[in-house]
Amino acid sequence: MAVRALLHYALDVPDQTVGEKFYRDFGLATEAGRDGAVHLRPEKLRRQVVMLYPGLRKRLHHLAFGAPGDEYAATRDALQRAGAREVDPPRGAPDGGFWTRDPDGNLINIRPEAGEAPAADPPLTLNSPGHITRVAARGYPEPGPPHPRRLGHVLLFTGDLDRQLDFYQRVLGMRLSDRSRSIVAFLRCTTDHHNLAFLASKGPGFHHGSFEVGNVDEIAMNAAKMQEAGWQPGWGLGRHVIGSNFFFYIRDPWGSFAEYFHDIDYIPEQCAWQAQDYPPEDALYRWGPPVPEDFALNREVQ
Ligand SMILES: [Fe+2]
Repeated sequence: MAVRALLHYALDVPDQTVGEKFYRDFGLATEAGRDGAVHLRPEKLRRQVVMLYPGLRKRLHHLAFGAPGDEYAATRDALQRAGAREVDPPRGAPDGGFWTRDPDGNLINIRPEAGEAPAADPPLTLNSPGHITRVAARGYPEPGPPHPRRLGHVLLFTGDLDRQLDFYQRVLGMRLSDRSRSIVAFLRCTTDHHNLAFLASKGPGFHHGSFEVGNVDEIAMNAAKMQEAGWQPGWGLGRHVIGSNFFFYIRDPWGSFAEYFHDIDYIPEQCAWQAQDYPPEDALYRWGPPVPEDFALNREVQ
């Protein structure tokens, strides 16, 4: 039994219009919703990856995972065996699948679906010492609006890291990719290094959603576009140690973040990947600006 895709994340937000503007500027397209939620998706995909519900304060509304084929019934059985109860869908929730709560109380929707894969980009043509892939052609990027290809992962705060890790591994079949002590841990249910990560805090909270783009130029140009549109930079440009991806975090309207990433570690299902436990001083980034003081601040429990 295992979930095989992170399909979308849904937030409660105090102002859906501001939220929609943020994610549209970020590069997602609005999808007409009939449930009172704003639906947002990468331009070339059919399925929403972010939903914004009206709420008093920003908080996670739910996470949706895909368990296609036999995995659906198997995941349902695993939940039952673990003593996790199915719950009613929240008001306005998308139809389909079943619902439960993780040990932190986060609502989880398991759906009988595979993730939607974007069409492949043309291969990158980079020139490096001894390896020329671009000959007699100019390499600078064309300008353009942000165009995230897909949702990659979500990072949540938790007040009980071990309990969350146990649930997502033992019950939902996710796998630990790497961690840093009892501070942060990264789980995967696809070939991405991580699709869900947990950061220790005083309690639950939503930290960021992360979206794949085509190269480092796009990360930097998108971040500049977001700042031109009046949004505040969060952290970047830099390169993570755990996951290896290039990153730039933009501050969302509620004190959390949306991240552009590129070149995350790829881990095939059958391989000899060994999860490592990184010392905190060498877990976060190899290079980049200093970490903002409030980067790990969980405003949902202040
Ligand atoms: Fe991230």
